[in-house]
Amino acid sequence: MQRREIFAGNWKMFTTRAEALALARGLLEGLGELKGREVAVFPPSVHARELADICRGKIDVGVQNMYFEKEGAFTGEVSPVMVKDLGARYILIGHSERRHVFGETDEMVNRKVKAACEYGIEPMVCVGELLAEREAGDSEKVVGGQLRKAFDGITADQMKKAVVAYEPVWAIGTGKVATPEIADAMHRYIRKELAGLYGAGIAAMVPVLYGGSVKADNIAGLFASPDIDGALVGGASLKANSFLDIIHV
Ligand code: 13P
Repeated sequence: MQRREIFAGNWKMFTTRAEALALARGLLEGLGELKGREVAVFPPSVHARELADICRGKIDVGVQNMYFEKEGAFTGEVSPVMVKDLGARYILIGHSERRHVFGETDEMVNRKVKAACEYGIEPMVCVGELLAEREAGDSEKVVGGQLRKAFDGITADQMKKAVVAYEPVWAIGTGKVATPEIADAMHRYIRKELAGLYGAGIAAMVPVLYGGSVKADNIAGLFASPDIDGALVGGASLKANSFLDIIHV
């Protein structure tokens, strides 16, 4: 079975409404031949509903973060019910900026993954080590721990809908992309861990995306790895042309 290939743009806290609509229209115009690849965007949540409407059937829309409770007195948060209701396919969970800027823990990541599965939203779960952890030789230990904790209690059936994104923190927004060798080795490790948790069949189904300073001029080397199933792109997804160049690698 051919694994799904996904090219996703994480717009982070960028774009006014007008900019978001223009960016989405630019992508829709330039999508062209996708060779079976899937394209997704994660706009700021205030734009997500409108984008889901204009992108329907062509580009999947995801939300960058949510809380794990259905509803309640949680000022400033959005719930899985709201994310599902607006027409989003994906929820990004455990992005390094959530973990390291907002103090999100592995336990919160796990509760969000469970909430996503419960409400029928596909979780795209980010894992990745800090530079100090890589330099200490702990990358696999850190990423393996994040994976096991994120998916604790998730069934094999639920896992079929999950996506993993390996985003080494030292490569995010720094221009320091992981070499294809580093990324390939970690993606193979992630798949081995997933096989240990869920068996080889499920592990072979779960797309594992690379993220961290992906650009049009480095995607080809990364995507050549059979275990790298696409990319989660930050800065280079904010211009239609540069994201399209990546999608069409
Ligand atoms: P950059 O592509 O800007 O490094 O961001 C990567 C990222 O964090 C995507 O989620």
